Amino acid sequence: MENLNISCLLNNLQTNYDPEIFDFSNIKIVEKVIKFHQSLPGYKPTPLVNLSCLANKLGISHLLVKDESQRFNLNAFKILGASYAIAKVLGNRLNLGEDELIFDKILSAQPEFQNTTFVTATDGNHGRAVAWVSEKLGCKAIVYLPKNSSPARLQAIKQFGAKAFITNFNYDDTVIYAEKMAKQKKWILLQDTSWDGYEKVPTHIMQGYFTLVTEFLSQEPKIWPTHIFLQAGVGSLAAGVLACMYTSAQKNKPKFIVVEPEGAPCLYNSMELNEGRPYRVKGDLPTIMAGLACGEPSRLGLRILKSRATAFIKCSDHVARQGMKIFGNPLPGDGTIISGESGAVTLGLVYELLSNKRFKHLKDKLDITRDAKILLFSTEGATDPEAYYEIVWS
Ligand SMILES: Cc1ncc(COP(=O)(O)O)c(C=O)c1O
Repeated sequence: MENLNISCLLNNLQTNYDPEIFDFSNIKIVEKVIKFHQSLPGYKPTPLVNLSCLANKLGISHLLVKDESQRFNLNAFKILGASYAIAKVLGNRLNLGEDELIFDKILSAQPEFQNTTFVTATDGNHGRAVAWVSEKLGCKAIVYLPKNSSPARLQAIKQFGAKAFITNFNYDDTVIYAEKMAKQKKWILLQDTSWDGYEKVPTHIMQGYFTLVTEFLSQEPKIWPTHIFLQAGVGSLAAGVLACMYTSAQKNKPKFIVVEPEGAPCLYNSMELNEGRPYRVKGDLPTIMAGLACGEPSRLGLRILKSRATAFIKCSDHVARQGMKIFGNPLPGDGTIISGESGAVTLGLVYELLSNKRFKHLKDKLDITRDAKILLFSTEGATDPEAYYEIVWS
C-alpha cells in the first residue's frame, strides 16, 4: 500500500484585513487584466465543470472545477500570468497607457522587440507560456528546467521556438541561475516568484491569475463557494486567486485552503516552523507534482496567504494520483477532466477528507458540512503524457 499522508495546519497567524496588502487586486486592475486576456488570439473562458454526482456521493452540496487543461490549447493556467507580465513589460516600452494594453497594439510594434529576450526557470508550464507569448510577439525566450524534468515538458517548450535546457539544479537553484544569466546577458527575467527587490514582474503574474476568478464569477454567480482548495508551488496562484476573491466579491468569504506536496511544503513549513517567514526546503524536493516542487515560497505570495488563508495542508503523492484517476474516470453523469499531477491533487484531497474515516477529524477541522460548496482548479492537463497514462490506466 502506497503512503497516504495528509497533515493540516490551521492558520493562527491570520491578521485583520489589511487593504494595503490587497491594493494590487483592486477592481480596476481586475477589469484591465480580463480585457487584456480577451484581446489574445483564441481567448475563451475555460469550462467550469459541475461534478454533481461526485458531490452527492461525497455528501456535500456542490463540487465545481475550473478545467485549465483547455486554456489556449496550452494545457495549463500559466499563460494567464506570463502573457500579462510580458504585455506589461512591452507596453511600458511603448508608453502604452493603462487602458491601451491590448494584444494587437503590442503586436503592431513587433519589429521593435526582435532583440528582446525573456528568461525564466520553470517546471514546464510557466516556461511553455513564456515561450508561446514570446514567439507570438517576436521576442526570444530562454527557459531553464530543474534536473529530472521530463523530456516531454522540455519538448513542449521548444516547439514554440524557445531555447530550453534541463539544468543540474533543483527548482530554486534553477531560479537563481536564471537570475544570474539575466544579469550577465541583459535579458529580462520573467519569474513567477518574488523575493526582496524582485516584485514587479511576479505582481503582474499574480494579477494575470485574476482572470480565473473573473471567469468563475461570470460563469456561476449563483453558487457561492464555502471552500476553495488551491494547490501551491511558490504560492503565486493561490495568492492571486485569494486576493481577487477578496476584492471582487462582496459576499461571505470562502475558506481558502492551500495544498502542497509533502516533498516540497515551503508554505506549510514557513507557517509551522518559521512564524510565517519564508522557509526554504532544501534538497531534491521529491514529488510527482512537478509544478508544485518548489522549495522557497514567493515573498509576496506568502504575505497574502499568511494574512487570509484558513489552513495549509501537505500531502503525499498518492493523493495526486487519486485525484487524476477520479477526474479521468468520473461517475456516470459527471464530465471527464484530464488532469495532471499538480492539477488533480486538490480533488484527491477532497476525496480523502470526505470518504476516508482516517481524515474525518480534518474534515471537521475545516468545517466541511453537508452544505459545503467546494471550488477547485484543475490547473493542468496531461502535461507529462507518459506519466499520465501510467497513473490513470495502469
Ligand atoms: C499545474 C500547476 N499548478 C499549480 C502551480 C502552482 O503555482 P504557484 O507556483 O504559483 O504556486 C503550478 C506552478 O508551476 C503548476 O504548474
